Amino acid sequence: MSIISKDIQKAIALLTNEELVAIPTETVYGLAGNIFSEKAIKSIFDTKKRPFFNPLIVHISSMDELETIVSEVPEKAKLLAKTFWPGSMTLVLKKQKNIPDMITAGKDTVAVRVPNHPLTLELLQKLPFPLAAPSANPFSSISPTKPAHVERYFKNDIQMVLDGGACKNGIESTIIGFENGEPIIYRLGALSLEDIEAVVGKVEIKNKKEESPDAPGMLDKHYSPATNTVLTSDITSEIKKYLPKKIGVLAFNSSFKTHAIFTEIVLSTTSDLQEAASKLYDALHELDSLNLDVIIAEKLPETGLGKSINDRLQRAAFSS
Ligand code: TXA
Ligand code: MG
Repeated sequence: MSIISKDIQKAIALLTNEELVAIPTETVYGLAGNIFSEKAIKSIFDTKKRPFFNPLIVHISSMDELETIVSEVPEKAKLLAKTFWPGSMTLVLKKQKNIPDMITAGKDTVAVRVPNHPLTLELLQKLPFPLAAPSANPFSSISPTKPAHVERYFKNDIQMVLDGGACKNGIESTIIGFENGEPIIYRLGALSLEDIEAVVGKVEIKNKKEESPDAPGMLDKHYSPATNTVLTSDITSEIKKYLPKKIGVLAFNSSFKTHAIFTEIVLSTTSDLQEAASKLYDALHELDSLNLDVIIAEKLPETGLGKSINDRLQRAAFSS
């Protein structure tokens, strides 16, 4: 018999009792509850202050469970699941009848993934039900990539953060839906477009709110610090515009630090996009805690994960 850690035991007990537990994944921390418990699912929406039109992702422990959640799996979905699960890819497929409407916001599709974190995989294997888990942050704010981020948001609201360390990938999963059997990207994310296209060929992207009525969570403003944030390819000119205000710079690979700016975080001095993604939200949390007048963020190259990171920075900087 395998030994179950105290933490996993406690998480199992809480989840079985229809309570919520924050769980680690390789992308971001999730706020998890039993998909079949109306009480748990309601409390996910309440805790996050998330509108009910925004559906949740179902987390399962392996591809074998997929048929209990969805009713149809197109060939290309099978291929993607075989290639990338466990991993940072969510598939949107036709749902099984028993998946509650609150999970899917009344749609006939459901979003599902097998996350790639040893603690959460163990937890999912031991539970007799899948977990719904949106990112563990209040609606539209910065996603959490460390236990401390979740605690800052929800210390008084939830009983447990299952501590799995810092999230390796650091941005949310890539969401893929299907139209006539062909994959469509609804949300850019931690699995790059190039990696996906290497397996299934050219893939269309529909991740703008107006393009994609099917991905209701793709809001213009999202992943946002409370601090005013701007996104630019020309940090130096932007700094000039804001001086003498209190400025924080979020740079990609090189420093813009002069005595005139208050602080700076460089995401990857070696231009490593994976490293940049893993540090992105932690850097935004940090800058947001410093009472800055403005965060000036540098646009990354539009290749690989750079495209996904720019998507997040654009939404972080969106002002209506
Ligand atoms: O990496 C991740 O995906 C993390 C971790 C915890 O797994 N979860 C996450 O969940 O980012 P959340 O709820 O923050 O984002 C889920 C997105 C939402 O934008 C939602 O609109 C979309 O998935 N979604 C869920 N069900 C959908 C469906 N049936 N059709 C289209 N989009 C869906
Ligand atoms: Mg989220």
